[in-house]
Amino acid sequence: MKNRTWIKGLAALCASAAVACGGGAGPQGGVAVYLDESQPIEKRVEDALSRMTLEEKVAILHAQSKFSSAGVPRLGIPEVWCTDGPHGIRPEVLWDEWNQAGWTNDSCTAFPALTCLAATWNPEMSALYGKSIGEEARYREKDILLGPGVNIYRTPLNGRNFEYMGEDPYLSSRMVVPYIEEVQKNGVAVCVKHFALNNQEAHRHGVNVVVDDRALYEIYLPAFKAAVEEGGAWAVMGAYNKYKGEHCCHNRYLLNDILKRDWAFDGVVVSDWGGTHDTKQAAENGLDMEFGSWTDGLSWGASNAYDNYHLAAPYLDMLRKGEASMATLDDKARRVLRLIFRTAMNTRKPFGSLNSPEHLTAARRIAGEGIVLLKNEGGVLPIDLGRAKTIAVVGENAVKMMTVGGGSSSLKVRHEYTPLEGIRAAAAGKAEVIYERGYVGDVTGDYNGVKTGQDLSESRSEAQLIADAVAAARKADAVIFVGGLNKSNHQDCEGDDRLQYGLPYAQDKVIGALAEANPNLAVVIVSGNAVAMPWIGRVPAVLEAWFSGSEAGNALADVVFGAVNPSGKLPFTFPVRLEDNSAHALGEYPGGDTVTYNESIFVGYRWHDKERLEPLFAFGHGLSYTTFAVGNVKADRTTLASKGSIRISADVTNTGDRAGAEVVQLYIGDEQSSLPRPVKELKGFRKIALDPGQTQTVTFEITPDMLRYYDDAKGAWVAEPGAFTAYVGVASDDIRGTVGFELK
Ligand code: GLC
Repeated sequence: MKNRTWIKGLAALCASAAVACGGGAGPQGGVAVYLDESQPIEKRVEDALSRMTLEEKVAILHAQSKFSSAGVPRLGIPEVWCTDGPHGIRPEVLWDEWNQAGWTNDSCTAFPALTCLAATWNPEMSALYGKSIGEEARYREKDILLGPGVNIYRTPLNGRNFEYMGEDPYLSSRMVVPYIEEVQKNGVAVCVKHFALNNQEAHRHGVNVVVDDRALYEIYLPAFKAAVEEGGAWAVMGAYNKYKGEHCCHNRYLLNDILKRDWAFDGVVVSDWGGTHDTKQAAENGLDMEFGSWTDGLSWGASNAYDNYHLAAPYLDMLRKGEASMATLDDKARRVLRLIFRTAMNTRKPFGSLNSPEHLTAARRIAGEGIVLLKNEGGVLPIDLGRAKTIAVVGENAVKMMTVGGGSSSLKVRHEYTPLEGIRAAAAGKAEVIYERGYVGDVTGDYNGVKTGQDLSESRSEAQLIADAVAAARKADAVIFVGGLNKSNHQDCEGDDRLQYGLPYAQDKVIGALAEANPNLAVVIVSGNAVAMPWIGRVPAVLEAWFSGSEAGNALADVVFGAVNPSGKLPFTFPVRLEDNSAHALGEYPGGDTVTYNESIFVGYRWHDKERLEPLFAFGHGLSYTTFAVGNVKADRTTLASKGSIRISADVTNTGDRAGAEVVQLYIGDEQSSLPRPVKELKGFRKIALDPGQTQTVTFEITPDMLRYYDDAKGAWVAEPGAFTAYVGVASDDIRGTVGFELK
């Protein structure tokens, strides 16, 4: 072994010496294997690498513009072009700018935010999403899509929760894999982000996250692990924050040890934009492509100073002085070449499509499946357009565009159907729709040079706005309040966190006044986060409508008027108050230079179960316009051998009068663990569509690996023999049957 390493080192020395003397880079002439797509990709990588000079290997590791990196022009190896974001393809920017370039051909389809996708609890929707957004990225000639994000929902104040898939690692894992597989079928790499522990925006560029290994491995890593090992992600983006004192964009523990060694990741680690802070660490701790650095390293970057990047001239200088390993350089270059062969040089990829009717239909369908009916008493919803003659719509979020703003996921769409437009379109010819502003929130409409064109200016006082809304509500057969959060700073927006858990802009007052004025009131929350609902006892119907993109208004109208029977389930808990959330109960948020995750594995419903806290609305909660019975929960055996499996089954019946879908959830609890464990944890789910009166049996396979927890003392996953309970339900707080079993 030692011998081989020595010889390899000598060979590398000779090769680099040859290159350093300007000798021919690698074999001249001969068949250019790297250009031959019939050749195995690894052979092509080695052939290309052998032809590249030291300078060329370094050049492909860092940005040449805001969103692109150089290829090897001399060898016909193309540049790599990246694009945001997780919900749609960002408009083209100028070479070295964040602002859009003003092209007229780069409007896109805005798909629902990933919280909405997660809320469908339907992997088929994730596949449809990935296919659709992948086609748009491909059509726009992009090689890396900077998404999806799978950071776990730790606090309801995190400004970027709307871009992620909720509080549970199993749900996020199941929902991220199809998205990745389908995007990459277009010859476009995903770049799963932000790896890892980027669970708040406050102090995001430097906060050092302190978290125990159990929470790291059981809560914060699984979705990334699934993205890499099952989804086959071709790129991963390092997070801004630090872990164990090192920035995640060049972090030996997360990148070298876990991602590349333990998970055998063969793709590219891309820095977040401006996430690279140290040349030596960038050289040695697993970073492969550096983007967006503030090149003087101190403040805002000098313009077009891409040669100053850590993985540019400084790295080349270290290599020339023998202060950095050539073998490590080659590993980085191999990874970038592999990505290029999978994307830019992949001539077999489809051609994609942009703004197609299919994509708009997909956006509307995913949104319709993701909208969550939180409460519905007195049959307020769906509104019957055969009976309601006048509908009052109140609230700024009924008219405010949400596809512009929110940070790097901001988009330029051809058209965004707002809730009011969707409601008006559906009610046309059947009911009169009157609109009242109700409150004034954020009147801006401009991000990175993309303008909504909306004039949201308003001169009336708060009292007048409420009086006018109440007057309209009194005259109406049905009232729909559309409020929630928005994409402006300190709301659902990158870069900062929310400043309060309650609704902003005094919306609670408006909702209270409307509840007095007309009992036939439905409140629609447009948000990517949980909010407080002090008025919940006085409002009969509540929907969580998310940020659902180009077709938002149509998808909402589909649900409000009953064309679509809601089947969404919450991907995160709505606590009654902020202190019921573990990050806030145990006091480490937002931290300062350091934030300590004192709550460890007890995130979301895991905390609510442990503390027996009643949530406002539970993880996995969501109602339907029909009703379902779930019962007859049973197991085919009550002992599980170490190599065996247990089959859990349950019968689901649609006991109502219209077709609908229910999400049956399997949780498992370890009754005898030597380390603390949550009462129960999600280990399976199935969305079942049923006609009235129809019954279907759902089965889950339980295997020993599903029972494991991470023993941080041993540094290993263990499934301890003993008693376990399988819980089958339709929400984490709505269990319909349990079965005890023993792991032998
Ligand atoms: C941003 C975000 C990241 C985005 C990148 C490029 O700061 O953190 O998600 O993809 O920079 O815009």
